[in-house]
Amino acid sequence: MKNILVTGGAGFIGSEFVRYMVERYPDYHIICFDKLTYAGNLDNLLPVSDEPNYRFERGDIADREAVRQALETHNIDTIVNFAAESHVDRSILAADAFVHTDVVGVYILLDESKNHGIERFLHVSTDEVYGDIPQGFSAEGDAFAPNSPYAASKAGGELMVRAYHVTHGLNTVVTRGSNTYGPYQYPEKVLPLFITEAIDDRPLPVYGDGKQVRDWLFVHDHVTGIDTALHKGEAGEAYNIAGEDLRHNIDVTHMLLAGLGKPADLIKHVPDREGHDRRYAMQADKLRALGWQREYTFERGVALTIDWYRDNEWWWRKIKTGEYMDYYKRQYMARLAAAEGSSES
Ligand code: NAD
Ligand code: DAU
Repeated sequence: MKNILVTGGAGFIGSEFVRYMVERYPDYHIICFDKLTYAGNLDNLLPVSDEPNYRFERGDIADREAVRQALETHNIDTIVNFAAESHVDRSILAADAFVHTDVVGVYILLDESKNHGIERFLHVSTDEVYGDIPQGFSAEGDAFAPNSPYAASKAGGELMVRAYHVTHGLNTVVTRGSNTYGPYQYPEKVLPLFITEAIDDRPLPVYGDGKQVRDWLFVHDHVTGIDTALHKGEAGEAYNIAGEDLRHNIDVTHMLLAGLGKPADLIKHVPDREGHDRRYAMQADKLRALGWQREYTFERGVALTIDWYRDNEWWWRKIKTGEYMDYYKRQYMARLAAAEGSSES
């Protein structure tokens, strides 16, 4: 690996990967290719912007000409694809952009990888492809049963990755990460939403009874998992990157409020997300066998994350304007009104 195209590298996990790779592998050239949608943010890449082994190119993975040019200009041999529409609630409001990027975009990237002789293609996927897991733990060979338009589009893209390996012999690896949190996460996802809202003493909209279960993974651990799979994963294989730390949403919410020193009456139980998966759970034995280990407990990761949002209001306050507020109103105003008087102490 010499020249790595990191698509979606201006987003939350992608930018952590870029920052990590630029420092960890000074001999690699890291080229970030990103459309800069509402979720893409060059502020996330400020820590590496002057590094000699880092470049940024603005482009859409579904734009064949833009992809071809980036591959040729930078003599790319490796692709790590983070680019996606990533928020389940937005996919319920409108799924067009999800099909465009998570399905068509992945196909274009794969097809140009085949044409360009790319030596390694790592695709970043999600535990949501397995669907709701009422009990037990998903292993890599389990069937897909995606339930949200987001999860379905990720499953579609992933199946195309499999097809390009089997049919065209492309050297692919897939990672399936669990719920990831940490610094630089766009404040639509539950942890940064609740932390930033609580800082401002605003209500925290917990969907339904809050007894849904998610498996939490600190962003640095997700990125080291991808690094491990990229360098050591077997071609054609998929690897779960699981935090193996299952929590009920309501417990996570209380933990955030305690960490921030805010009262529990900020909690509002609002009408549930449509089609809401109750539980995700995976085991990471296959990746562990390659030498990966999780470094951060949830307690440590949450404390670091709270501190980061407290110390970096410059980063999130300017996001919570304009398009963000339009989305917030569409997603939450009616829900919060329906929850009036249902606060929890
Ligand atoms: P994010 O929404 O923060 O970032 C997505 C990035 O992709 C943004 O920079 C955006 O500008 C870019 N992008 C979107 N459409 C594009 C396009 N057509 N062409 C080029 N760039 C485009 O997402 P994230 O939370 O960092 O997730 C990154 C990847 O990891 C996604 O593929 C997601 O499905 C997967 N994943 C996320 C989690 C999680 O908990 N956040 C867990 C498992 C897997
Ligand atoms: O599991 C991996 C997935 O995790 C990734 O593939 C997705 O890209 C990522 O967004 C995340 O999906 P979730 O839907 O699990 O994350 P989110 O932060 O949106 O919600 C986490 C849980 O919190 C979920 O059960 C819904 C609940 N929730 C979320 C929001 C935004 C609330 O109760 N209230 C909220 O306002």
